[in-house]
Amino acid sequence: MSRFRTTRILPEDAMAAALRADVQHGLTSDPKTLPPKWFYDAHGSELFERITELPEYYPTRAEREILAARSGEIAAALPARTLVELGSGSSEKTRYLLDALSGLDTYVPVDVSDSALTQAGQALAAERPDLNVHALIADFTGALALPDAPGPRLLAFLGGTIGNLLPAERAAFLERVRGLLSPGDALLLGTDLVKDEDVLVRAYDDAAGVTAAFNKNVLAVVNRELGADFDPDAFDHVALWDAGNEWIEMRLRSRVAQTVKVPALDLAVDFAAGEDLRTEVSAKFREEGVGRELRAAGLEPARWWTDGEERFALSLSVVR
Ligand code: SAH
Ligand code: AVI
Repeated sequence: MSRFRTTRILPEDAMAAALRADVQHGLTSDPKTLPPKWFYDAHGSELFERITELPEYYPTRAEREILAARSGEIAAALPARTLVELGSGSSEKTRYLLDALSGLDTYVPVDVSDSALTQAGQALAAERPDLNVHALIADFTGALALPDAPGPRLLAFLGGTIGNLLPAERAAFLERVRGLLSPGDALLLGTDLVKDEDVLVRAYDDAAGVTAAFNKNVLAVVNRELGADFDPDAFDHVALWDAGNEWIEMRLRSRVAQTVKVPALDLAVDFAAGEDLRTEVSAKFREEGVGRELRAAGLEPARWWTDGEERFALSLSVVR
């Protein structure tokens, strides 16, 4: 019997309704915005995997270095029987945790991208016949309920994806995460760290143009799903460092004055020449700030590990 199953927490019609609401709201706001979760259709998930291999994109390599060195310590601190991972994508780095957690019974990858979940979940279930893999297609910015699986539970949120939430969204998210955990469970959180502006901007504006293609993919998603007529060539990819907020912003800048139609919403959106559509923030953190945000949500950071160059950090908060 296969030990891989998928539960769709987010029905397809609810996902379609959420996209419509986000596009309606975001394209009629000033400045214009779209939430980053819409990058990740099957093509966007593939582009993200290519980003993780770019020479400029250090976060994946830095986090992998920490996991390779520290998974044993993490497993000793929290000998989890269930590993839940939010925004799991390809689950590639997760293998270090799966190898180290010798008593693991169930892995619960959670993602909006059903293509990424299915690919990763099926491969893991085939490689590890003793592991139950219960994938959840769900939006981690909404209400989350976890399947009934044995404790203690380790909830991992890797990749620095927490930085793609705005500060108020992060606070609400961490409170919901705390609500999912019981005494004896723990949160393993990956956070990218503040560093030199050039290094940061290059990581989000690579020479091969893969991040530009990833950024523009959100326009292809809106075209396909809502019948819009965005011309990706009429926008430039922009990555800039906001020093005040300590985050990278990705934007799409209209090359010309143009009107984009979104028939499914009966909407016509005017862009001035040079006007930006913000598609993502990617916040960078400091140890004190991560600790403050965790404690505000009722979590107590117990361990903090970085890679050798202090580019990225993993923190472990155990629930008492
Ligand atoms: N954890 C992996 C993937 C990071 S990419 C790594 O570290 O390499 C971010 C992942 O989060 C993608 O797989 C994307 O589909 C998922 N994601 C983004 N927003 C999401 C949301 N709101 N709910 C659930 N998954 C989301
Ligand atoms: C998923 N997330 C942590 C990535 C990041 O670095 O903020 C998404 C990404 N955007 C551009 N490149 C990668």
